[in-house]
Amino acid sequence: MKTKLFNFTDEQIDCAARLIRQGQLVAFPTETVYGLGANALDEEAVKSTYVAKGRPIDNPEIVHVWCSEQIETFAHVDQRAKLLIDAFMPGSLTLVLKKKPNLSSVVTAGFDTVGVRMPQSEQARRFLQACRVPVAAPSANTSGRPSPTNWTAVKEDLDGKIAGILCGEDCAVGIESTVLDTTKDGLVVLRPGVVTPSEIAKVVNQPVTVLTDPLSKVNSPGVRYTHYAPLCQMVLNVDGDKEKLISFYDKIASNGLNPVLLCDDVLGFGDRNVLSLGKSNEEVAQTAFSSLRFCEKNFDYIICSFLPKGEFGQSIQNRLMRSASNKIL
Ligand code: TXA
Ligand code: MG
Repeated sequence: MKTKLFNFTDEQIDCAARLIRQGQLVAFPTETVYGLGANALDEEAVKSTYVAKGRPIDNPEIVHVWCSEQIETFAHVDQRAKLLIDAFMPGSLTLVLKKKPNLSSVVTAGFDTVGVRMPQSEQARRFLQACRVPVAAPSANTSGRPSPTNWTAVKEDLDGKIAGILCGEDCAVGIESTVLDTTKDGLVVLRPGVVTPSEIAKVVNQPVTVLTDPLSKVNSPGVRYTHYAPLCQMVLNVDGDKEKLISFYDKIASNGLNPVLLCDDVLGFGDRNVLSLGKSNEEVAQTAFSSLRFCEKNFDYIICSFLPKGEFGQSIQNRLMRSASNKIL
């Protein structure tokens, strides 16, 4: 299949939206990461997202909407969910709600709940509005790879496997949405993101717990799989101990490999390979996944160092830990 590249003109958006209504797959930008869109009401189209990504079939997909009225066409919205929708949508929060029977359980991997998200980015909203149907969209990467935060990363993974890519802006947030389960009495963050537990707690005036055990059966199914991993080896340092980083780097280099230090603080490493991970949380989140994709092409071993600051810092650390397959230095 030849994958068409679309620009953000009204005509091209309409072409891409028509492909969605015809059951084809089109990747599109959101402020978090690029999504691989399919008509959520078309079982065959949704199934083909799993094939294109090589995604395990027991991992449910998020349904994307452009207005809140669309949500009630396929999900139940209670009082608390309404409060959350009013406060955070559009935005980088996915709400897990009880699904209505008309939504195929192919989208929800057999669960009776559905993840719903209304992206904030103007480009995503223009596309979703043009689609006129709810759009199931996992991140537009091969399953297990770092999420795509620009259209070239989507092309790298999915060229020839999908009908089109809407070539829009680089993602402003850079890590995926916060996933919040609202279907039980207590609210639980299943995947941390830029919308933090304390921001959520303030709106609903109740505590919010964060799921921390990646092996737990009750969590977001996606949390169980290998994720965000670059093609080369990677280790994560979380204490900023430069002597430790240097001695690990030198050991790897002495084995004939070409390592790189990917750090939030790049000073003091002499003439070793060093790349900046960014200074603020915002910068680190924006560039982390694209940096991993750059490093895997140019080096053999990523030695990453990141000291989390605040709740958003924890969300970023969660992604980096999983990129490093929990290998901590
Ligand atoms: O920012 C994002 O959320 C991006 C953009 C494209 O919107 N999408 C994204 O989709 O990250 P994906 O498929 O890569 O991750 C969806 C996550 C998975 O961890 C999945 O298990 C969880 O959301 N999820 C979806 N529906 C769920 C449900 N009904 N119950 C629990 N977890 C759910
Ligand atoms: Mg993903």
